[in-house]
Amino acid sequence: MKKYGLIAICRHGFAEKFKATPILMVIDLILGILHGLSFGVETMMQQRFFDKATQMMSGSATLGMAFGALAMLGLANVACQILNGVSNYMPNITNGKISGELSRKMNEKIGRLAPEIFENTQCLDDINKAEKGKSSVMNVADTMMSIMIFYVPYFGFMGWYLFTMKPILILALVLIFIPKALTQILRTKVFTKAEDESAPIRREYEYYENCIADREYFKETRLLGGFMFFKKLYTQVLDAMQKLRYKASVKANMTEFLMSLLTVAGYVGIIWLLFDSLMKGDISVGAFAAVFNSLGLMYNIMDEVICRHIGGVAETIGATQNYMRFMDMPERTGSASQTPEWGDIELSHVSFAYPGASECAVKDVSFTLKKGETLAVVGENGSGKSTLIRLLSGLYAPTAGQVLHNGVETTKLSASALFAGTSAVFQKYQRYQMSLAENISISRTEKKWDEAVLGDVSQMAGLDVEVRTFTNGYDTMLSREFDGVDLSGGQWQRVAIARGFFRDHNLIILDEPTAAIDPYEETRIYNRFAQMAKDKSALIVTHRLGSVKLADRILVMKDGQAVQLGTHEELIAEDGEYRRLYEAQEQWYE
Ligand SMILES: Nc1ncnc2c1ncn2[C@@H]1O[C@H](COP(=O)(O)OP(=O)(O)OP(=O)(O)O)[C@@H](O)[C@H]1O
Ligand SMILES: [Mg+2]
Repeated sequence: MKKYGLIAICRHGFAEKFKATPILMVIDLILGILHGLSFGVETMMQQRFFDKATQMMSGSATLGMAFGALAMLGLANVACQILNGVSNYMPNITNGKISGELSRKMNEKIGRLAPEIFENTQCLDDINKAEKGKSSVMNVADTMMSIMIFYVPYFGFMGWYLFTMKPILILALVLIFIPKALTQILRTKVFTKAEDESAPIRREYEYYENCIADREYFKETRLLGGFMFFKKLYTQVLDAMQKLRYKASVKANMTEFLMSLLTVAGYVGIIWLLFDSLMKGDISVGAFAAVFNSLGLMYNIMDEVICRHIGGVAETIGATQNYMRFMDMPERTGSASQTPEWGDIELSHVSFAYPGASECAVKDVSFTLKKGETLAVVGENGSGKSTLIRLLSGLYAPTAGQVLHNGVETTKLSASALFAGTSAVFQKYQRYQMSLAENISISRTEKKWDEAVLGDVSQMAGLDVEVRTFTNGYDTMLSREFDGVDLSGGQWQRVAIARGFFRDHNLIILDEPTAAIDPYEETRIYNRFAQMAKDKSALIVTHRLGSVKLADRILVMKDGQAVQLGTHEELIAEDGEYRRLYEAQEQWYE
Protein backbone atom coordinates (compact mmCIF):
# COMPACT_ATOMS: atom_id res chain seq x y z
CA MET A 1 0.00 0.00 0.00
CA LYS A 2 1.35 3.41 -0.95
CA LYS A 3 2.51 5.62 1.92
CA TYR A 4 2.67 9.39 1.63
CA GLY A 5 5.44 11.36 3.30
CA LEU A 6 5.03 14.53 5.29
CA ILE A 7 6.28 16.64 2.41
CA ALA A 8 3.77 15.20 -0.05
CA ILE A 9 0.94 15.74 2.44
CA CYS A 10 2.01 19.32 3.16
CA ARG A 11 2.41 20.11 -0.51
CA HIS A 12 -1.12 18.91 -1.16
CA GLY A 13 -2.49 20.75 1.90
CA PHE A 14 -0.78 24.04 1.07
CA ALA A 15 -1.90 23.88 -2.55
CA GLU A 16 -5.52 23.23 -1.57
CA LYS A 17 -5.46 25.94 1.05
CA PHE A 18 -3.94 28.43 -1.33
CA LYS A 19 -6.53 27.61 -3.99
CA ALA A 20 -9.41 27.99 -1.50
CA THR A 21 -8.28 31.17 0.28
CA PRO A 22 -5.17 32.73 -1.32
CA ILE A 23 -5.34 36.17 0.31
CA LEU A 24 -6.15 34.88 3.78
CA MET A 25 -3.30 32.40 3.54
CA VAL A 26 -0.77 35.15 2.77
CA ILE A 27 -2.12 37.28 5.64
CA ASP A 28 -1.89 34.25 7.90
CA LEU A 29 1.74 33.74 6.89
CA ILE A 30 2.77 37.32 7.61
CA LEU A 31 0.88 37.42 10.92
CA GLY A 32 2.49 34.15 11.98
CA ILE A 33 6.02 35.43 11.42
CA LEU A 34 5.29 38.70 13.25
CA HIS A 35 3.70 36.73 16.07
CA GLY A 36 6.80 34.56 16.53
CA LEU A 37 9.12 37.53 16.48
CA SER A 38 6.93 39.54 18.87
CA PHE A 39 7.61 37.01 21.66
CA GLY A 40 11.34 37.47 21.17
CA VAL A 41 11.12 41.24 21.01
CA GLU A 42 9.14 41.24 24.25
CA THR A 43 11.97 39.37 26.00
CA MET A 44 14.48 41.90 24.69
CA MET A 45 12.31 44.74 25.92
CA GLN A 46 12.13 43.13 29.33
CA GLN A 47 15.91 43.07 29.54
CA ARG A 48 16.11 46.68 28.43
CA PHE A 49 13.61 47.80 31.02
CA PHE A 50 15.28 45.96 33.92
CA ASP A 51 18.65 47.30 32.87
CA LYS A 52 17.39 50.89 32.67
CA ALA A 53 15.61 50.56 36.04
CA THR A 54 18.76 49.30 37.81
CA GLN A 55 20.86 51.95 36.04
CA MET A 56 18.41 54.62 37.17
CA MET A 57 18.77 53.50 40.77
CA SER A 58 22.55 53.67 40.54
CA GLY A 59 22.21 57.11 38.95
CA SER A 60 23.55 56.27 35.47
CA ALA A 61 20.15 56.60 33.75
CA THR A 62 17.33 59.13 34.06
CA LEU A 63 13.75 58.44 35.10
CA GLY A 64 12.68 59.40 31.57
CA MET A 65 14.90 56.69 30.09
CA ALA A 66 13.46 54.06 32.46
CA PHE A 67 9.96 55.23 31.68
CA GLY A 68 10.67 55.04 27.94
CA ALA A 69 11.89 51.46 28.34
CA LEU A 70 8.74 50.60 30.29
CA ALA A 71 6.57 52.09 27.55
CA MET A 72 8.40 50.02 24.92
CA LEU A 73 7.90 46.88 27.00
CA GLY A 74 4.21 47.68 27.30
CA LEU A 75 3.95 48.21 23.53
CA ALA A 76 5.72 44.94 22.78
CA ASN A 77 3.39 43.16 25.17
CA VAL A 78 0.27 44.66 23.60
CA ALA A 79 1.50 43.82 20.09
CA CYS A 80 2.19 40.29 21.22
CA GLN A 81 -1.32 39.90 22.68
CA ILE A 82 -3.02 41.32 19.61
CA LEU A 83 -1.05 39.09 17.24
CA ASN A 84 -1.80 36.12 19.44
CA GLY A 85 -5.53 36.82 19.36
CA VAL A 86 -5.64 37.40 15.61
CA SER A 87 -3.55 34.28 14.86
CA ASN A 88 -5.82 32.16 17.01
CA TYR A 89 -8.92 33.57 15.36
CA MET A 90 -7.74 33.14 11.75
CA PRO A 91 -8.53 29.40 11.51
CA ASN A 92 -12.17 30.15 12.40
CA ILE A 93 -12.48 32.14 9.19
CA THR A 94 -10.48 29.91 6.88
CA ASN A 95 -11.32 26.39 8.07
CA GLY A 96 -15.00 26.42 7.15
CA LYS A 97 -14.21 27.65 3.66
CA ILE A 98 -11.46 25.11 3.05
CA SER A 99 -13.46 22.23 4.47
CA GLY A 100 -16.42 23.04 2.18
CA GLU A 101 -14.11 23.26 -0.80
CA LEU A 102 -12.45 19.93 0.00
CA SER A 103 -15.82 18.20 0.43
CA ARG A 104 -16.88 19.45 -2.98
CA LYS A 105 -13.66 18.12 -4.52
CA MET A 106 -14.08 14.76 -2.83
CA ASN A 107 -17.60 14.38 -4.18
CA GLU A 108 -16.44 15.25 -7.68
CA LYS A 109 -13.65 12.73 -7.32
CA ILE A 110 -16.09 9.98 -6.32
CA GLY A 111 -18.05 10.73 -9.48
CA ARG A 112 -14.92 10.32 -11.59
CA LEU A 113 -13.65 7.09 -9.98
CA ALA A 114 -13.44 4.01 -12.15
CA PRO A 115 -16.58 2.00 -11.18
CA GLU A 116 -14.61 -1.23 -10.69
CA ILE A 117 -12.91 0.44 -7.71
CA PHE A 118 -16.15 0.00 -5.78
CA GLU A 119 -15.74 -3.77 -6.07
CA ASN A 120 -12.66 -3.74 -3.90
CA THR A 121 -13.50 -3.76 -0.20
CA GLN A 122 -10.11 -2.24 0.65
CA CYS A 123 -10.84 0.70 -1.62
CA LEU A 124 -14.34 1.07 -0.20
CA ASP A 125 -12.81 1.25 3.26
CA ASP A 126 -10.42 3.93 2.06
CA ILE A 127 -13.25 5.94 0.55
CA ASN A 128 -15.20 5.82 3.80
CA LYS A 129 -12.18 6.82 5.83
CA ALA A 130 -11.06 9.53 3.43
CA GLU A 131 -13.67 11.94 4.75
CA LYS A 132 -12.01 11.81 8.17
CA GLY A 133 -8.58 12.26 6.62
CA LYS A 134 -9.70 15.40 4.84
CA SER A 135 -9.52 17.56 7.97
CA SER A 136 -6.33 15.79 9.05
CA VAL A 137 -4.55 16.83 5.88
CA MET A 138 -5.36 20.45 6.62
CA ASN A 139 -4.34 19.96 10.22
CA VAL A 140 -0.97 18.52 9.22
CA ALA A 141 -0.37 21.28 6.66
CA ASP A 142 -1.42 24.02 9.11
CA THR A 143 0.80 22.63 11.83
CA MET A 144 3.82 22.39 9.59
CA MET A 145 3.13 25.93 8.42
CA SER A 146 2.91 27.31 11.94
CA ILE A 147 6.11 25.50 12.86
CA MET A 148 7.85 27.15 9.95
CA ILE A 149 6.47 30.64 10.31
CA PHE A 150 5.99 30.93 14.07
CA TYR A 151 7.98 28.44 16.12
CA VAL A 152 11.15 28.37 14.02
CA PRO A 153 11.46 32.18 13.92
CA TYR A 154 10.73 32.38 17.66
CA PHE A 155 13.30 29.79 18.70
CA GLY A 156 15.76 31.09 16.12
CA PHE A 157 15.43 34.55 17.58
CA MET A 158 15.75 33.31 21.16
CA GLY A 159 18.75 31.18 20.22
CA TRP A 160 20.46 34.17 18.68
CA TYR A 161 19.58 36.32 21.72
CA LEU A 162 20.92 33.81 24.23
CA PHE A 163 23.99 33.10 22.14
CA THR A 164 25.01 36.76 21.84
CA MET A 165 24.49 37.15 25.57
CA LYS A 166 26.64 34.14 26.47
CA PRO A 167 27.12 31.21 24.03
CA ILE A 168 26.69 28.53 26.72
CA LEU A 169 23.14 29.77 27.43
CA ILE A 170 22.02 28.15 24.21
CA LEU A 171 22.11 24.96 26.27
CA ALA A 172 18.83 26.17 27.76
CA LEU A 173 17.09 25.53 24.45
CA VAL A 174 18.68 22.12 24.02
CA LEU A 175 17.79 21.00 27.54
CA ILE A 176 14.18 21.96 27.05
CA PHE A 177 14.02 20.48 23.59
CA ILE A 178 15.60 17.05 24.00
CA PRO A 179 13.49 15.52 26.79
CA LYS A 180 10.31 16.89 25.21
CA ALA A 181 11.19 15.49 21.80
CA LEU A 182 12.24 12.12 23.20
CA THR A 183 9.02 11.81 25.16
CA GLN A 184 7.01 12.53 22.07
CA ILE A 185 8.93 10.09 19.90
CA LEU A 186 8.49 7.30 22.41
CA ARG A 187 4.87 8.16 22.94
CA THR A 188 4.16 8.06 19.21
CA LYS A 189 5.97 4.74 18.91
CA VAL A 190 4.00 3.20 21.75
CA PHE A 191 0.66 4.39 20.43
CA THR A 192 1.38 3.50 16.81
CA LYS A 193 2.26 0.01 17.89
CA ALA A 194 -0.89 -0.23 20.00
CA GLU A 195 -2.92 1.12 17.09
CA ASP A 196 -1.42 -1.41 14.65
CA GLU A 197 -2.18 -4.19 17.07
CA SER A 198 -5.71 -3.08 17.79
CA ALA A 199 -6.77 -2.31 14.19
CA PRO A 200 -7.74 -5.90 13.36
CA ILE A 201 -9.38 -6.26 16.76
CA ARG A 202 -11.38 -3.12 16.14
CA ARG A 203 -12.58 -4.37 12.76
CA GLU A 204 -13.74 -7.54 14.48
CA TYR A 205 -15.38 -5.50 17.22
CA GLU A 206 -17.24 -3.29 14.75
CA TYR A 207 -18.40 -6.32 12.84
CA TYR A 208 -19.87 -7.97 15.95
CA GLU A 209 -21.47 -4.70 16.90
CA ASN A 210 -23.23 -4.68 13.51
CA CYS A 211 -24.31 -8.29 13.93
CA ILE A 212 -25.97 -7.34 17.20
CA ALA A 213 -27.53 -4.02 16.34
CA ASP A 214 -27.86 -3.72 12.57
CA ARG A 215 -31.28 -3.95 10.97
CA GLU A 216 -29.94 -6.24 8.24
CA TYR A 217 -28.86 -8.89 10.73
CA PHE A 218 -31.56 -8.30 13.26
CA LYS A 219 -34.12 -10.85 12.12
CA GLU A 220 -31.64 -13.66 11.70
CA THR A 221 -29.67 -13.11 14.88
CA ARG A 222 -32.85 -12.98 16.99
CA LEU A 223 -34.56 -15.92 15.37
CA LEU A 224 -31.59 -18.21 14.87
CA GLY A 225 -30.24 -17.35 18.31
CA GLY A 226 -26.97 -15.77 17.21
CA PHE A 227 -27.54 -12.78 19.47
CA MET A 228 -25.93 -14.18 22.63
CA PHE A 229 -23.14 -15.73 20.58
CA PHE A 230 -22.18 -12.39 19.05
CA LYS A 231 -22.58 -10.61 22.37
CA LYS A 232 -20.04 -12.93 23.94
CA LEU A 233 -17.57 -12.43 21.10
CA TYR A 234 -18.14 -8.70 21.29
CA THR A 235 -17.34 -8.55 25.01
CA GLN A 236 -14.21 -10.65 24.48
CA VAL A 237 -12.71 -8.39 21.82
CA LEU A 238 -13.72 -5.31 23.78
CA ASP A 239 -11.71 -6.61 26.73
CA ALA A 240 -8.72 -7.36 24.54
CA MET A 241 -8.81 -3.88 23.08
CA GLN A 242 -9.01 -2.18 26.46
CA LYS A 243 -6.07 -4.21 27.77
CA LEU A 244 -3.94 -3.13 24.82
CA ARG A 245 -4.82 0.52 25.36
CA TYR A 246 -4.14 0.34 29.08
CA LYS A 247 -0.72 -1.20 28.55
CA ALA A 248 0.19 1.49 26.03
CA SER A 249 -0.87 4.35 28.27
CA VAL A 250 1.06 3.00 31.27
CA LYS A 251 4.19 2.76 29.14
CA ALA A 252 3.74 6.25 27.71
CA ASN A 253 3.11 7.83 31.10
CA MET A 254 6.18 6.21 32.62
CA THR A 255 8.49 7.63 29.96
CA GLU A 256 6.84 10.99 30.33
CA PHE A 257 7.56 10.96 34.04
CA LEU A 258 11.23 10.04 33.58
CA MET A 259 11.71 12.73 30.98
CA SER A 260 10.11 15.34 33.23
CA LEU A 261 12.75 14.53 35.83
CA LEU A 262 15.40 15.21 33.20
CA THR A 263 13.79 18.52 32.30
CA VAL A 264 13.67 19.63 35.94
CA ALA A 265 17.37 18.78 36.31
CA GLY A 266 18.10 20.81 33.16
CA TYR A 267 16.09 23.71 34.51
CA VAL A 268 18.03 23.81 37.75
CA GLY A 269 21.29 23.65 35.78
CA ILE A 270 20.37 26.60 33.59
CA ILE A 271 19.29 28.75 36.51
CA TRP A 272 22.59 27.99 38.23
CA LEU A 273 24.45 28.95 35.07
CA LEU A 274 22.54 32.23 34.83
CA PHE A 275 23.14 33.02 38.47
CA ASP A 276 26.83 32.24 38.12
CA SER A 277 27.12 34.53 35.08
CA LEU A 278 25.33 37.32 36.91
CA MET A 279 27.65 37.01 39.92
CA LYS A 280 30.71 37.07 37.68
CA GLY A 281 29.33 40.14 35.97
CA ASP A 282 29.10 38.42 32.56
CA ILE A 283 25.43 39.39 32.16
CA SER A 284 23.37 42.27 33.45
CA VAL A 285 20.53 42.06 35.99
CA GLY A 286 18.12 42.85 33.16
CA ALA A 287 19.45 39.96 31.09
CA PHE A 288 19.14 37.62 34.07
CA ALA A 289 15.55 38.69 34.70
CA ALA A 290 14.56 38.49 31.04
CA VAL A 291 16.05 35.04 30.46
CA PHE A 292 14.68 33.76 33.77
CA ASN A 293 11.22 34.94 32.74
CA SER A 294 11.40 33.56 29.25
CA LEU A 295 12.51 30.09 30.39
CA GLY A 296 8.94 29.28 31.44
CA LEU A 297 7.53 30.68 28.22
CA MET A 298 10.03 28.75 26.08
CA TYR A 299 9.18 25.60 27.97
CA ASN A 300 5.47 26.11 27.41
CA ILE A 301 5.91 26.92 23.75
CA MET A 302 8.15 23.91 23.24
CA ASP A 303 5.54 21.79 24.96
CA GLU A 304 2.89 23.24 22.68
CA VAL A 305 4.82 22.61 19.49
CA ILE A 306 6.06 19.14 20.33
CA CYS A 307 3.19 17.61 22.26
CA ARG A 308 0.18 19.33 20.89
CA HIS A 309 1.23 20.02 17.32
CA ILE A 310 3.78 17.39 16.36
CA GLY A 311 2.00 14.82 18.55
CA GLY A 312 -1.29 15.72 16.91
CA VAL A 313 0.26 15.32 13.47
CA ALA A 314 1.65 11.92 14.44
CA GLU A 315 -1.78 10.82 15.62
CA THR A 316 -3.59 11.90 12.48
CA ILE A 317 -1.00 10.96 9.90
CA GLY A 318 -2.69 7.59 9.44
CA ALA A 319 -5.99 9.25 8.61
CA THR A 320 -4.32 11.54 6.08
CA GLN A 321 -2.98 8.50 4.25
CA ASN A 322 -6.53 7.37 3.52
CA TYR A 323 -7.42 10.75 2.12
CA MET A 324 -4.27 10.97 -0.01
CA ARG A 325 -4.79 7.45 -1.34
CA PHE A 326 -8.37 8.29 -2.17
CA MET A 327 -7.39 11.42 -4.11
CA ASP A 328 -4.92 9.29 -6.08
CA MET A 329 -7.36 6.50 -6.93
CA PRO A 330 -7.61 5.75 -10.65
CA GLU A 331 -10.32 7.60 -12.50
CA ARG A 332 -12.43 6.46 -15.38
CA THR A 333 -10.67 7.38 -18.60
CA GLY A 334 -12.40 8.46 -21.78
CA SER A 335 -13.51 11.92 -22.77
CA ALA A 336 -15.19 11.60 -26.18
CA SER A 337 -18.58 13.18 -25.63
CA GLN A 338 -20.27 12.04 -28.87
CA THR A 339 -22.42 8.93 -28.41
CA PRO A 340 -21.62 6.56 -31.30
CA GLU A 341 -24.52 5.79 -33.60
CA TRP A 342 -26.38 2.72 -32.44
CA GLY A 343 -24.98 -0.51 -33.89
CA ASP A 344 -23.27 -3.78 -33.03
CA ILE A 345 -21.40 -4.28 -29.79
CA GLU A 346 -18.24 -6.28 -30.30
CA LEU A 347 -16.15 -7.93 -27.59
CA SER A 348 -12.69 -8.82 -28.77
CA HIS A 349 -10.53 -11.05 -26.53
CA VAL A 350 -11.90 -9.41 -23.41
CA SER A 351 -10.47 -10.39 -20.01
CA PHE A 352 -11.11 -8.81 -16.66
CA ALA A 353 -9.73 -9.25 -13.16
CA TYR A 354 -11.33 -7.50 -10.18
CA PRO A 355 -8.99 -5.08 -8.39
CA GLY A 356 -6.95 -7.09 -5.94
CA ALA A 357 -8.07 -10.46 -7.36
CA SER A 358 -5.39 -12.80 -8.67
CA GLU A 359 -7.60 -14.61 -11.19
CA CYS A 360 -9.60 -13.25 -14.09
CA ALA A 361 -13.39 -13.37 -13.65
CA VAL A 362 -13.77 -13.12 -17.44
CA LYS A 363 -11.20 -14.77 -19.70
CA ASP A 364 -10.61 -14.02 -23.36
CA VAL A 365 -14.24 -13.64 -24.43
CA SER A 366 -15.07 -12.67 -28.01
CA PHE A 367 -18.53 -12.30 -29.58
CA THR A 368 -20.75 -9.69 -31.18
CA LEU A 369 -24.14 -8.56 -29.93
CA LYS A 370 -25.80 -7.57 -33.17
CA LYS A 371 -27.90 -4.45 -33.43
CA GLY A 372 -31.46 -5.35 -32.38
CA GLU A 373 -30.53 -8.81 -31.13
CA THR A 374 -31.74 -10.34 -27.86
CA LEU A 375 -29.01 -12.44 -26.28
CA ALA A 376 -29.46 -14.60 -23.21
CA VAL A 377 -26.46 -15.32 -21.02
CA VAL A 378 -26.57 -18.49 -18.94
CA GLY A 379 -24.12 -20.35 -16.74
CA GLU A 380 -23.53 -21.52 -13.20
CA ASN A 381 -23.09 -19.20 -10.21
CA GLY A 382 -19.78 -17.39 -10.41
CA SER A 383 -19.24 -18.20 -14.09
CA GLY A 384 -18.79 -14.50 -14.88
CA LYS A 385 -22.18 -13.46 -16.27
CA SER A 386 -22.63 -10.28 -14.24
CA THR A 387 -19.02 -9.32 -14.85
CA LEU A 388 -19.44 -9.85 -18.58
CA ILE A 389 -22.42 -7.52 -18.87
CA ARG A 390 -20.65 -4.83 -16.88
CA LEU A 391 -17.84 -5.06 -19.41
CA LEU A 392 -20.20 -5.10 -22.38
CA SER A 393 -22.03 -2.00 -21.18
CA GLY A 394 -18.71 -0.22 -20.64
CA LEU A 395 -19.23 0.16 -16.90
CA TYR A 396 -15.92 -1.61 -16.29
CA ALA A 397 -12.85 -1.25 -18.46
CA PRO A 398 -11.43 -4.61 -19.58
CA THR A 399 -8.04 -5.63 -18.18
CA ALA A 400 -7.19 -6.93 -21.67
CA GLY A 401 -8.98 -6.80 -25.02
CA GLN A 402 -11.55 -4.33 -26.29
CA VAL A 403 -15.25 -3.64 -26.09
CA LEU A 404 -16.45 -1.70 -29.15
CA HIS A 405 -19.78 0.10 -29.39
CA ASN A 406 -20.31 0.42 -33.12
CA GLY A 407 -16.53 0.43 -33.60
CA VAL A 408 -15.74 2.88 -30.77
CA GLU A 409 -13.83 1.58 -27.74
CA THR A 410 -15.84 2.02 -24.52
CA THR A 411 -12.78 3.30 -22.64
CA LYS A 412 -12.50 6.25 -25.06
CA LEU A 413 -16.00 7.52 -24.32
CA SER A 414 -17.09 9.79 -21.49
CA ALA A 415 -19.54 8.18 -19.08
CA SER A 416 -22.48 10.28 -20.28
CA ALA A 417 -21.81 9.53 -23.95
CA LEU A 418 -21.36 5.85 -23.22
CA PHE A 419 -24.48 5.31 -21.13
CA ALA A 420 -26.83 7.65 -23.03
CA GLY A 421 -28.60 4.79 -24.81
CA THR A 422 -28.25 2.06 -22.20
CA SER A 423 -30.65 0.88 -19.53
CA ALA A 424 -30.15 -1.89 -17.03
CA VAL A 425 -31.74 -3.79 -14.18
CA PHE A 426 -28.96 -5.13 -12.04
CA GLN A 427 -28.87 -8.23 -9.92
CA LYS A 428 -28.23 -6.04 -6.90
CA TYR A 429 -30.72 -3.30 -7.72
CA GLN A 430 -31.35 -0.35 -5.44
CA ARG A 431 -34.30 0.27 -3.16
CA TYR A 432 -34.55 4.05 -2.97
CA GLN A 433 -36.30 5.42 0.07
CA MET A 434 -38.50 7.67 -2.04
CA SER A 435 -41.95 7.60 -3.61
CA LEU A 436 -42.90 4.91 -6.13
CA ALA A 437 -42.94 7.49 -8.93
CA GLU A 438 -39.46 8.65 -8.00
CA ASN A 439 -38.22 5.07 -7.70
CA ILE A 440 -39.24 4.48 -11.30
CA SER A 441 -38.39 7.80 -12.92
CA ILE A 442 -34.96 8.16 -11.32
CA SER A 443 -33.48 6.28 -14.29
CA ARG A 444 -34.06 9.32 -16.51
CA THR A 445 -34.67 12.31 -14.27
CA GLU A 446 -34.86 14.80 -17.11
CA LYS A 447 -37.66 12.86 -18.87
CA LYS A 448 -41.17 14.27 -18.53
CA TRP A 449 -43.67 11.72 -17.26
CA ASP A 450 -47.26 11.35 -16.19
CA GLU A 451 -49.24 8.48 -14.71
CA ALA A 452 -49.89 7.03 -18.16
CA VAL A 453 -46.14 6.65 -18.82
CA LEU A 454 -45.58 5.15 -15.38
CA GLY A 455 -48.59 2.90 -15.95
CA ASP A 456 -47.10 1.54 -19.18
CA VAL A 457 -43.75 0.60 -17.67
CA SER A 458 -45.38 -0.75 -14.51
CA GLN A 459 -47.59 -3.00 -16.60
CA MET A 460 -44.58 -4.27 -18.56
CA ALA A 461 -42.79 -5.03 -15.32
CA GLY A 462 -45.87 -6.79 -13.92
CA LEU A 463 -46.19 -4.24 -11.15
CA ASP A 464 -49.76 -3.87 -9.96
CA VAL A 465 -50.19 -0.41 -8.48
CA GLU A 466 -53.88 -1.07 -7.74
CA VAL A 467 -53.11 -3.40 -4.83
CA ARG A 468 -53.56 -2.40 -1.19
CA THR A 469 -49.84 -1.92 -0.60
CA PHE A 470 -49.69 1.27 -2.64
CA THR A 471 -51.91 3.34 -0.39
CA ASN A 472 -51.20 6.50 -2.31
CA GLY A 473 -50.74 5.19 -5.85
CA TYR A 474 -47.54 6.42 -7.46
CA ASP A 475 -47.03 8.88 -4.61
CA THR A 476 -46.73 6.09 -2.05
CA MET A 477 -43.54 6.49 -0.05
CA LEU A 478 -41.46 3.30 -0.27
CA SER A 479 -39.79 3.50 3.10
CA ARG A 480 -40.97 2.70 6.56
CA GLU A 481 -38.34 5.02 7.95
CA PHE A 482 -40.07 7.94 6.20
CA ASP A 483 -43.62 6.98 7.18
CA GLY A 484 -44.21 4.92 4.08
CA VAL A 485 -44.69 1.27 3.24
CA ASP A 486 -42.24 -1.59 2.78
CA LEU A 487 -42.54 -3.84 -0.26
CA SER A 488 -42.03 -7.56 -0.64
CA GLY A 489 -38.90 -8.80 -2.43
CA GLY A 490 -40.85 -9.54 -5.60
CA GLN A 491 -42.54 -6.14 -5.57
CA TRP A 492 -39.24 -4.37 -5.17
CA GLN A 493 -37.86 -6.33 -8.07
CA ARG A 494 -40.74 -5.27 -10.29
CA VAL A 495 -40.16 -1.63 -9.31
CA ALA A 496 -36.53 -2.06 -10.41
CA ILE A 497 -37.63 -3.58 -13.72
CA ALA A 498 -40.09 -0.73 -14.30
CA ARG A 499 -37.22 1.66 -13.63
CA GLY A 500 -35.11 -0.08 -16.27
CA PHE A 501 -37.91 0.09 -18.83
CA PHE A 502 -38.62 3.76 -18.06
CA ARG A 503 -35.21 4.84 -19.27
CA ASP A 504 -35.12 5.39 -23.07
CA HIS A 505 -32.59 2.99 -24.49
CA ASN A 506 -31.13 1.15 -27.45
CA LEU A 507 -29.56 -1.50 -25.25
CA ILE A 508 -31.17 -2.98 -22.18
CA ILE A 509 -29.52 -5.35 -19.78
CA LEU A 510 -31.46 -7.52 -17.37
CA ASP A 511 -29.25 -9.31 -14.88
CA GLU A 512 -31.56 -11.85 -13.26
CA PRO A 513 -34.15 -9.25 -12.39
CA THR A 514 -36.75 -11.94 -11.82
CA ALA A 515 -35.13 -14.17 -9.21
CA ALA A 516 -37.74 -13.23 -6.59
CA ILE A 517 -40.63 -13.53 -9.02
CA ASP A 518 -42.44 -16.82 -9.70
CA PRO A 519 -41.58 -18.59 -12.99
CA TYR A 520 -45.08 -18.11 -14.42
CA GLU A 521 -44.99 -14.34 -13.93
CA GLU A 522 -41.38 -14.29 -15.12
CA THR A 523 -42.38 -15.77 -18.48
CA ARG A 524 -45.09 -13.14 -18.84
CA ILE A 525 -42.65 -10.34 -18.06
CA TYR A 526 -40.14 -11.69 -20.55
CA ASN A 527 -42.77 -12.02 -23.24
CA ARG A 528 -43.84 -8.42 -22.81
CA PHE A 529 -40.19 -7.54 -22.75
CA ALA A 530 -39.55 -9.40 -26.03
CA GLN A 531 -42.39 -7.42 -27.65
CA MET A 532 -40.89 -4.17 -26.53
CA ALA A 533 -37.29 -5.07 -27.25
CA LYS A 534 -37.97 -6.08 -30.83
CA ASP A 535 -35.83 -3.41 -32.47
CA LYS A 536 -33.52 -2.92 -29.52
CA SER A 537 -30.47 -4.83 -28.41
CA ALA A 538 -31.04 -6.75 -25.22
CA LEU A 539 -29.05 -8.90 -22.90
CA ILE A 540 -30.77 -11.16 -20.40
CA VAL A 541 -29.00 -13.07 -17.68
CA THR A 542 -31.09 -15.79 -16.14
CA HIS A 543 -30.82 -19.10 -14.38
CA ARG A 544 -34.24 -20.28 -15.57
CA LEU A 545 -33.59 -21.88 -18.88
CA GLY A 546 -37.31 -22.01 -19.60
CA SER A 547 -37.15 -18.26 -20.28
CA VAL A 548 -34.20 -18.20 -22.64
CA LYS A 549 -35.97 -19.64 -25.66
CA LEU A 550 -37.35 -16.21 -26.50
CA ALA A 551 -33.80 -14.92 -27.04
CA ASP A 552 -32.34 -14.87 -30.56
CA ARG A 553 -29.16 -16.51 -29.36
CA ILE A 554 -27.78 -17.91 -26.13
CA LEU A 555 -24.27 -17.43 -24.75
CA VAL A 556 -23.07 -20.02 -22.24
CA MET A 557 -20.46 -19.01 -19.69
CA LYS A 558 -18.29 -21.39 -17.70
CA ASP A 559 -15.39 -20.42 -15.41
CA GLY A 560 -15.18 -16.97 -16.98
CA GLN A 561 -15.06 -18.28 -20.53
CA ALA A 562 -17.68 -18.16 -23.27
CA VAL A 563 -18.01 -21.84 -24.09
CA GLN A 564 -21.06 -21.94 -26.37
CA LEU A 565 -23.01 -19.50 -28.53
CA GLY A 566 -26.07 -20.27 -30.65
CA THR A 567 -29.83 -20.72 -30.73
CA HIS A 568 -31.62 -22.98 -28.28
CA GLU A 569 -32.04 -25.65 -30.96
CA GLU A 570 -28.39 -25.51 -31.95
CA LEU A 571 -27.13 -25.69 -28.39
CA ILE A 572 -29.47 -28.42 -27.25
CA ALA A 573 -28.24 -30.51 -30.16
CA GLU A 574 -24.65 -30.21 -28.95
CA ASP A 575 -23.28 -32.38 -26.20
CA GLY A 576 -22.17 -29.50 -24.00
CA GLU A 577 -22.68 -27.29 -20.96
CA TYR A 578 -26.02 -25.94 -22.20
CA ARG A 579 -27.59 -29.37 -22.54
CA ARG A 580 -26.28 -30.32 -19.13
CA LEU A 581 -27.83 -27.22 -17.53
CA TYR A 582 -31.04 -27.65 -19.47
CA GLU A 583 -31.49 -31.29 -18.57
CA ALA A 584 -30.91 -30.52 -14.90
CA GLN A 585 -33.87 -28.12 -14.98
CA GLU A 586 -36.06 -29.89 -17.52
CA GLN A 587 -38.28 -31.60 -14.96
CA TRP A 588 -39.47 -28.16 -13.80
CA TYR A 589 -40.75 -27.29 -17.24
CA GLU A 590 -42.62 -30.50 -18.04
N1 LIG B 1 -16.10 -7.62 -6.23
C1 LIG B 1 -15.44 -8.71 -6.57
N2 LIG B 1 -14.14 -8.85 -6.24
C2 LIG B 1 -13.47 -9.96 -6.58
N3 LIG B 1 -13.99 -10.97 -7.25
C3 LIG B 1 -15.29 -10.90 -7.61
C4 LIG B 1 -16.08 -9.76 -7.29
N4 LIG B 1 -17.32 -9.96 -7.77
C5 LIG B 1 -17.28 -11.16 -8.36
N5 LIG B 1 -16.08 -11.72 -8.27
C6 LIG B 1 -15.67 -13.04 -8.79
O1 LIG B 1 -15.83 -13.06 -10.17
C7 LIG B 1 -16.37 -14.28 -10.60
C8 LIG B 1 -17.58 -14.05 -11.48
O2 LIG B 1 -18.57 -13.39 -10.73
P1 LIG B 1 -19.94 -12.91 -11.38
O3 LIG B 1 -20.67 -12.12 -10.37
O4 LIG B 1 -19.66 -12.29 -12.69
O5 LIG B 1 -20.66 -14.32 -11.61
P2 LIG B 1 -22.15 -14.62 -12.07
O6 LIG B 1 -22.02 -15.56 -13.20
O7 LIG B 1 -22.89 -13.37 -12.32
O8 LIG B 1 -22.71 -15.37 -10.81
P3 LIG B 1 -24.22 -15.42 -10.25
O9 LIG B 1 -24.96 -16.38 -11.10
O10 LIG B 1 -24.08 -15.94 -8.88
O11 LIG B 1 -24.78 -14.06 -10.31
C9 LIG B 1 -16.67 -15.09 -9.34
O12 LIG B 1 -15.67 -16.07 -9.22
C10 LIG B 1 -16.56 -14.11 -8.21
O13 LIG B 1 -15.96 -14.73 -7.12
MG1 LIG C 1 -24.47 -12.48 -11.43
